[in-house]
Amino acid sequence: MMRLSRRKLFDILFESLPIGCFIVDKDLEIIAFNKSAERLTGWNKEEVIGKACSKIIRSNLCRQFCPLREGAALKKNYIAREAKIKNRFGEEIPICFSSSTVFDESGKFEAGIEIFRDRGADHRLQTLRNHIISVFAHDIKTPISVNGAIIQRILGGKAGPVTQKQRDYLQFLLKESKQVELLINNLLELLNMESGRHPAQKVATDIESFIRETVEEMKPKALQHDIKLGFHVDKDIKRPVILDPVQLKRVISNLIDNAIKYSNSGGFVEVTAELQHNWLVIKVQDCGIGIPEEDLPHIFEYFYRAKNSISKAGGTGLGLSSARAIVESNGGRIWVKSKVGEGTTFFIRLPYEPDP
Ligand SMILES: Nc1ncnc2c1ncn2[C@@H]1O[C@H](COP(=O)(O)OP(=O)(O)O)[C@@H](O)[C@H]1O
Ligand SMILES: [Mg+2]
Repeated sequence: MMRLSRRKLFDILFESLPIGCFIVDKDLEIIAFNKSAERLTGWNKEEVIGKACSKIIRSNLCRQFCPLREGAALKKNYIAREAKIKNRFGEEIPICFSSSTVFDESGKFEAGIEIFRDRGADHRLQTLRNHIISVFAHDIKTPISVNGAIIQRILGGKAGPVTQKQRDYLQFLLKESKQVELLINNLLELLNMESGRHPAQKVATDIESFIRETVEEMKPKALQHDIKLGFHVDKDIKRPVILDPVQLKRVISNLIDNAIKYSNSGGFVEVTAELQHNWLVIKVQDCGIGIPEEDLPHIFEYFYRAKNSISKAGGTGLGLSSARAIVESNGGRIWVKSKVGEGTTFFIRLPYEPDP
């Protein structure tokens, strides 16, 4: 059998990878650039060697968050994300990429390897899917609301006297049509968020008043379910924080709504905001029914509802998918800890960008 040196093997592998790959040195200058990277970016290897990778890749992340620099600073080896790059002709290409950082024995950043793939085809398919669902949802929204309005008129006696039996049936129809309406609205909101057509509108926001206002708006619902709703904002958060208050209010209200819905009367829900390692962490905690362990990994998925919640309250299983889309588009993360019978805490971590 022919013997290949590791170097030769590496070169063959590197060049024949069906995904773009380039390597940079400690100054983030390109030292290797494979064929797929040439195809995707339109640049030839000879033209890019020795150039700063940000000049060639021109990703939307380069200016605000260089994954290689971040990886080097945090001594993190691997960051996988989605981004957009501009090829040499100015065309924007959506990509998925992962960055690996290499350190020498003394722990100094030595090199970075970036692997990326065109997600244009996935992207187009997803846009088409979202478009079809959104047109469908819009089209059935009107007839459903009209049905609801007509049922309400009949119940109000506008079409003559209604017997008790007819009233029961009509009330059932009304409840069902309200549920479909809720589903359509949640679905449209989610698609809207995912379309990326609503980038975060960040403004300096006073966290204390922001949380207070959000909690106040949910108080009537809490009262209705006999749930105590409180909040606490850490004094360390002194200055206003740059965030999108409209989008984030929607997320927190959604979490409070769940916390109330999935608690028993007499319970309490608390919203807290604090600083942790220079992140703003907002928690929504309840002592409700909790989420079974086997459901926990799925609750952010579209339409997913845990078994114990279905009999407890109505819902569409879309609230948390929207919440995640919003938090992530604001540069944050959302996660949950829960124990059946003890309660649930949702955590939102957002970049802490105080207004200077
Ligand atoms: N605070 C909570 N306590 C218990 N279960 C929860 C809580 N929040 C969310 N869940 C579970 O996660 C599922 C998904 O939440 P969500 O997407 O908001 O859907 P929905 O509220 O329409 O049921 C819920 O159906 C429920 O099973
Ligand atoms: Mg919900």
